[in-house]
Amino acid sequence: MDDSIYEKYKQAGKIAASARDYGAGLIRPGVSFLEVANLVESMILKEKAGLAFPVNISINEGAAHYSPRHDDNLVFKKGNVVKLDIGAHIDGYIADTAITVEVETNKYSNMIKASNDALDNAIGLVKAGVNLSEVGKIVEDTIKSYGYKPINNLSGHSLEQYELHSGTSIPNVSNTHNKTRPKEGDVLAIEPFATNGEGHVVSGKGSNIYLCDKSFRSKLIRDNKSKNLFNKLIVKFKTLPFAQRWCKDLLPNNGDLVLKKLSFLGLIKHYPQLIEAKGGTVTQKEHTVIVKEDGCEITT
Ligand code: CO
Repeated sequence: MDDSIYEKYKQAGKIAASARDYGAGLIRPGVSFLEVANLVESMILKEKAGLAFPVNISINEGAAHYSPRHDDNLVFKKGNVVKLDIGAHIDGYIADTAITVEVETNKYSNMIKASNDALDNAIGLVKAGVNLSEVGKIVEDTIKSYGYKPINNLSGHSLEQYELHSGTSIPNVSNTHNKTRPKEGDVLAIEPFATNGEGHVVSGKGSNIYLCDKSFRSKLIRDNKSKNLFNKLIVKFKTLPFAQRWCKDLLPNNGDLVLKKLSFLGLIKHYPQLIEAKGGTVTQKEHTVIVKEDGCEITT
């Protein structure tokens, strides 16, 4: 990896880590999701990084993919198990990191510890050439040793410039058929999820998180108005996920109708929320690492 790219990953990681910890410290009963998302995103921007994706705030059985709307009125409550997942980038070089916070109770401390330990153990194994199903196995074994299940259809992912989910998946279970082996200089987001539910997630309602489809160039759009609105999005957000909130001043009517239309046309993707299949509580911990010859370096 080029020195200047390495420095950008390191810088993005430092900013993402402090934004994550700052955000975690804001979560208290009565505080709104929107307030936390706005404050964390403002901090990242103030530090001169870009937003790699909207701040994700998922509670209890929600594993991932929820970001408040501009008019969201959800507030944290005592006992919520909150996953705060944030991303920063410098010139498209991304840091992705998440933490679980239980609001004023300690009922899920062990489940939080399970996903934390699973991440530490996975990171301990990652180096150039590692067999990813060994990484999945240690995640699974660690989480099971606490009496919980890993979420088998969520995985970590490789990162590339302006690409949050590039080719490689980092499994959270052992029985995968992924034969790709990371090489030196690869950047990976590793994110074990633990649950007392079924061990997989299903799609729920909309997340308010969108992504411009990479194949848009090949799509023939006859409607000039839609084409122009789409162009505004791709110029501003490139190929990184964005929030409805961020379109409020960019698109008419808070973006709602346009985002719906562009999703229908297949120009953008609207992510669903990911919810534990049996309504089990979910915990998550995530770091971004740079793969080295003999190990890996955590950037976040
Ligand atoms: Co993440």
